[in-house]
Formats: sequence, C-alpha cells, structure tokens
Amino acid sequence: MKKKELLAWFIDGAKIAQAPKGYAAVWQSYRKQFSFKGKAGESAIVWDGEAPTLLLGVAAEDKTRAVFEAAVRAVEIAKREKFSAVVLGGVSASHRDVALRGMEAGRYSFRITKEKPSVAPSVRVLGATSAEMRRAAEVAEAAAFARTLVNLPPAEKFPAKLVARIMAEVRARQAGRRVPRRAGNVRVEVWDEKRLRSERCGGILAVGKGSARPPRLLKLTWSPRGAREHIVLVGKGVTFDSGGLNIKPFEGMKTMKCDMSGAAAVTGAFLAAVRMGLNVRITVLAGFAENMLGGEAFKPGDVLSMRSGKTVEVLNTDAEGRLVLGDLLDIAAGLKSDAIVDCATLTGACVVALGEEIAGLFSTSTPLMEDLRAAGDAAGELVWPLPLNRDFLEKLKGDISDLKNIGGRYGGASSAAAFLAEFAGSGAWAHIDLAGPAFRESGASGRPHGGTGFGVATLTAFLERRARV
Ligand code: BES
Ligand code: ZN
Ligand code: ZN
Repeated sequence: MKKKELLAWFIDGAKIAQAPKGYAAVWQSYRKQFSFKGKAGESAIVWDGEAPTLLLGVAAEDKTRAVFEAAVRAVEIAKREKFSAVVLGGVSASHRDVALRGMEAGRYSFRITKEKPSVAPSVRVLGATSAEMRRAAEVAEAAAFARTLVNLPPAEKFPAKLVARIMAEVRARQAGRRVPRRAGNVRVEVWDEKRLRSERCGGILAVGKGSARPPRLLKLTWSPRGAREHIVLVGKGVTFDSGGLNIKPFEGMKTMKCDMSGAAAVTGAFLAAVRMGLNVRITVLAGFAENMLGGEAFKPGDVLSMRSGKTVEVLNTDAEGRLVLGDLLDIAAGLKSDAIVDCATLTGACVVALGEEIAGLFSTSTPLMEDLRAAGDAAGELVWPLPLNRDFLEKLKGDISDLKNIGGRYGGASSAAAFLAEFAGSGAWAHIDLAGPAFRESGASGRPHGGTGFGVATLTAFLERRARV
C-alpha cells in the first residue's frame, strides 16, 4: 500500500496567519464555506489538489487542553482514514510539548480481540526539537502505561499480579533508559500480607480481607546523586471496588476496575522521572487491595486499628480508599520529605462537585497547592482547589473510636480529605481526587474512552519543577 501522509494544521481563532505558502487562499475559502472559526472542537478536511489537509480549531480559554485534544483528533482521523503518518503544523513553541503528547495519546489503543490491532500512524510536529520530542515521548509512554494498567480487566490486575506487572515495567524501562546508571539508583520493595501485618497496616489489610487475593504495598525509590528535594507520591490502588458489604449498585460498580488510577498515576510519573533522570529524590508508596464481599470481609461496625495507632469505626465499607491511604500516608509522614502528594479515585462527591474532567485539589500548604496547579496547567490537566477545614473533621469524630470512616451527608470530597489529613503528618501534603477525570465510560472525539492516564503529566511537570530547586 502507498504511504499516505496527512497534514494537520492548528487554526487558533479568526487569524489564518500561520498558513503555509500556497495554502492560505484555499483555506480561507473553506473557512467561509464551512463557517470554520478556529474554535476548539472544530475540524474540516481541505482537499487541496491531491493531498488533503486537516484544519483543527484550538481557540479556547483552556488552550493547553484544547491543543491536546485537537492533537488526539488529528491522529484519530488519520487512523480512520488509514493514513500511515500525520504531520502537525501551526503549533506555537509553547504548545509543542502538549501537541506531541496528544498525538502519542491518539496513537494509543487498548483492545483484547482475536484480530490483531492495526498499526498506528507515525506522528510528527513541525518545528519540534529532539529534546522536546524525547521529553514528550517519555511522558506519553508513562501515561500510556498508566492507561493500560487502568484498562486491564480486574482478573488481570489483582494486587500481586498488578505489582508484578509494574515491577516488570520498572525493570524494562531501567534497562533501556537513556540516563546513565551512575545518575542514581532505583529500588523496588514489595510488602506482602505478612509484612503488612507486622507493620500494623490495619486499614489496607481490612479492605483486602473480603478478597481471595491478598493486598500488597509497593515502594519505589529514585535516589539521584545530589538531589536537593525529596518528594513522596502516594497512590490508591484498589484493583476492584465492589463496595464490599455496602455493595455498589451495578451502575456504580461497572467502572470500578479504575479504582487503582491513583496508583497508576504515581507509578507512571515515577517511570517518566527516572527515564528523564530528574534531579529530585522520589518515593512512591502504592497500596493495592481488592474490595470484595468474601466470608472474611470487613464489616460495618468493625473498629480498625490503623498503622498510626488511631482507631477507625467502619460505617461504610465502600469508603475504603481512605483506609488504604491512611496507612500509606502514615508511612509517608515517617519519611523525611519536602512534600507528600497523594492521588486517588476517592469520592463520587468530587465528581458531583467538579464534573468528569476536573480533579479536586486539597492541601495544607499554599506553595504546594500553587505548584501543583501550575504543573496541571502546563500539562493540560485541570486540578481545582477544594476546601479542607475542621468542620469536616468534626463530623468524622468517632463515638467509640478516634474516627469514623464517613462524615456528614454533605461535602463528601472534603470530608474524605479531612480524614486523610489525620494521617498525613505536619509537613506539606496535598491530595488529588481524580475520581472524575481518571476514566471515561464513553468516549468522544479527542477524548477516548477508558483510562485517561490523568495525573501522570501533572505529576511529572511538578517533579521537574522540584528538580530545579
Ligand atoms: N472508588 C469510589 C469513588 C469513585 C466514585 C471513584 C466514582 C470513581 C468514580 C470510593 O471508594 C467510594 O465508593 N466512595 C464513596 C464514599 C462514601 C461511601 C462516603 C462514594 O463516593 O460514594
Ligand atoms: Zn468504595
Ligand atoms: Zn474506591
């Protein structure tokens, strides 16, 4: 078959200034004909002689996201029309990174079928430097890895199996990494249920009790020579959340293989950081458990003794993420670090508050909050601050225990964050609730269904900022 190349071009609003020579006049007439205004979400194929050009609008307030999605669409359309290559032009220097990552994201697919998947087209952004391409490729590959972990069916990712898969990936990426070995060390440590017991991780153990597949804790460390800062990343890795005895209705349960998206995000960011050789020490703590209803399942009324020594009365077995994170955050608080950031698909309430595209951001530290917001903006992922105060904590005070695992009727995302704060120590800590943007049940143009890899790009950008200090 003849190699076909699709030229795609961003149009940013009314101006057509950057059109390549010879195209401007044709495009102008198409713009009129199709009333194409260059707004985000618009696209038109221009048949200019033999070679078609795809025009993509990108004008929007959230330009970075618009660029990402338009780049995804360029590749989606190229796939559909069976082009073997896509070249993207009209991209401003400040958006080359996100355009490259968007194109890579567009190439991604996850299917378990008899037939072999078709080969994705090659992608290129005009004007991108090799350093830009390398950086974007690392982040995109890490995000694709996180998406695959999320997309895996539950039977393929119970705690021990998921941990093995992540370890294999860490080793493979290490072997192929471009940064010299002497730049720093990677260490991998796994806690099985025995170790979790000896470490008194009562939260993680309780959540895993109703499953035939016991929980695990994965600890990854990256220690580059001469790093000034140490960042601890914590992730919720509930490999399937049935709700436990407080079982979820099918509507809520059907996507719950995504409940390990926080763990996927932090391990993805870790991989990208190592591959890029970032000069910042990183510890990842991911807690994996399957929340099921077996005969030994934890029950409403059970009082758990958490790793920190605090006791928690379980009043809803579906509020399990905070029990896993409580133990992880206690371990994190015991490490000397400059900041702790946790990622979790923690509450449906956060999705109610912010919708499906925006993650909630909670923090006790204003500089950390600002850093994460800036990183999210640069990455093209939206994180939005939500409140954390003692009113929420008041409602979590236990009658027979230190805490209950559910608070009042309202402000569920803040209530969960207030619970976590009780375990995160007194240093800088931030919590990202990505229950909305981690997973799309149905896709749309530029927004494919399934795991999104949300958080990988934001956390990597955050780690890059901290590496420069
Ligand atoms: N994993 C869910 C939260 C979730 C909801 C993630 C939607 C992704 C999409 C979490 O464990 C949960 O079930 N939370 C409960 C808490 C409640 C019982 C206090 C919820 O949000 O309903
Ligand atoms: Zn739950
Ligand atoms: Zn959950």
